[in-house]
Amino acid sequence: MFRTIPRHNINLSKEEIALIVSKILDGSAPSGNDLAAFEDEMAVYQGLPFVAAVNSGRAALYLILKAMNFSLGSEILVPAYSFYSVVESVKAAGLSPVFAPCHPRHYALDPSRLDSALTKNTVALIVEHPFGQTAPMDDIMDWSQGHGLPVIEDASQSIGASLNGKKAGSFGLASCMSLVHGKNLMTFGGGLVLTKEEKIYREVLQQIVKTRPIEAGKIRKEALSGLVNWALTTRIGYQFGPFAPFFLLNLFDRKRLEAFFEEAHSLYDPKALKPLSNLQAGLGREQLKRLDERNSKRRTLAEQIIHGLSDTNALSLPEYPPNSIGTWNALAVRVPSSLTVQRECLRYGVDTRADYMTGFAYQDEWLRHGEVLYLPCHPGMSFADADYVVETVKKVMRKLAY
Ligand SMILES: Cc1ncc(COP(=O)(O)O)c(C=O)c1O
Repeated sequence: MFRTIPRHNINLSKEEIALIVSKILDGSAPSGNDLAAFEDEMAVYQGLPFVAAVNSGRAALYLILKAMNFSLGSEILVPAYSFYSVVESVKAAGLSPVFAPCHPRHYALDPSRLDSALTKNTVALIVEHPFGQTAPMDDIMDWSQGHGLPVIEDASQSIGASLNGKKAGSFGLASCMSLVHGKNLMTFGGGLVLTKEEKIYREVLQQIVKTRPIEAGKIRKEALSGLVNWALTTRIGYQFGPFAPFFLLNLFDRKRLEAFFEEAHSLYDPKALKPLSNLQAGLGREQLKRLDERNSKRRTLAEQIIHGLSDTNALSLPEYPPNSIGTWNALAVRVPSSLTVQRECLRYGVDTRADYMTGFAYQDEWLRHGEVLYLPCHPGMSFADADYVVETVKKVMRKLAY
C-alpha cells in the first residue's frame, strides 16, 4: 500500500502543545523561571556543570569560540564533512577553518587522518557528531591531548547519544547544540552552550546579558509558525499538505523542491544573538522529559531499517562501535548516486535527503560521487512505515539496476 513519509517530523505531544498555548495566553512567553530550570536540567542530563541557552546552535558555537580568546586568524580543525553553519561560526569568530578528513562509514572525523590537517597554527579542534551518533571520541581525545589541543563538540544532531555511557557533547572543554526544528530535542529554534569551564560560561553569559529580550509578538509568531510546521509533518498533515506539490516538483523541478528546504544562509548570522524565550525554555523542558523515550523509538526504527536493508546490493550501511548508543537523527547510508535514489524514493512517497551536510574538502570518493543519502527515521513513523522505507529503497535500487 502507498504511504507518504516526510524526511523529518516535529515531535509534539498534546501536553507540549497545551504548554505552548498556555504560555502565550498567560503572558509568561517572554520571561519566567523556565529558562534557568531548562539550563539546569540540561546540565544534569549531560553531566556538565554549566549550560547557557541562546537563540541558535551557530550563535552557541560562535560564543564558545569568542570566549576561548584565540588570536585572530588562528586555525581551527573542522570536519571536512560539516553542516555549513559550523564553518560560518568559525569565520564569524575571526578564525580560520582548516578541514580534516571524515570517515565513509560513520561520517565523523577520521582520527587516523587528523595529522594531515595539523599545522603549527592549529589552536583547537571542532568535532561534529553526525546523524545521531557519537564520533570516535576515545581516539579523538587521545589525539587532541597528545597535541595539547582543546576539543569543542557540536552535538546538534546527536542529542542524547552516548559512547561508553558518556553523552555526545560532554567529552571536550565545551560543546554546542542546535534546538532547531528537526532536532531530537527542539524548541522552535534555539541553541545551547555546554561547558566544563566556568570562564567560558561566564564570558558567554556576559554576551547574552547585553542582548535585548525578544518581544512577545515575535515569540507568538515563531510559536505559531512552529505549530504550522508541526502540523505539516504529521502523517495526515504531510499527506494532504506538502506531499502533492513535493511529488510534482520532484517529477519536473527537483532543484526547486530542494530549494524549499534550503535555508537562506545570509538570514542566519552566527553573531545575531538573542536569549531563549521562556516559552522556548518551557518547551525544552517538556521535550527533555520525553527525549529518551523518543530516542529509543528512533533506535528501534533504525534497527528495523538496517536489518531490512542489510542484504541490499550497492548500499553501504553505517558502522558504529558496539559501546555507543545512537539516537538516529537521520539514518545515513551510501548509494551510488544519492540524488537519483532520492528522486525515485519520493515517487513512492518516501522523502529522503541528500545534501544536508556539505563536503568542504578531502573529496574522498564517497563525497565526490555524492553518495550519502539520509533515510527518514523519526518518532512520527510507525513500524509499518519503517518496513515501507525498506521496501521502497530496495525496489528503487533494483529498478536502477545497482
Ligand atoms: C551539526 C549542526 N551544527 C550546527 C547547526 C546550526 O544550528 P542552528 O540552525 O540552530 O544555528 C546545525 C543545524 O541544523 C547542525 O546540524
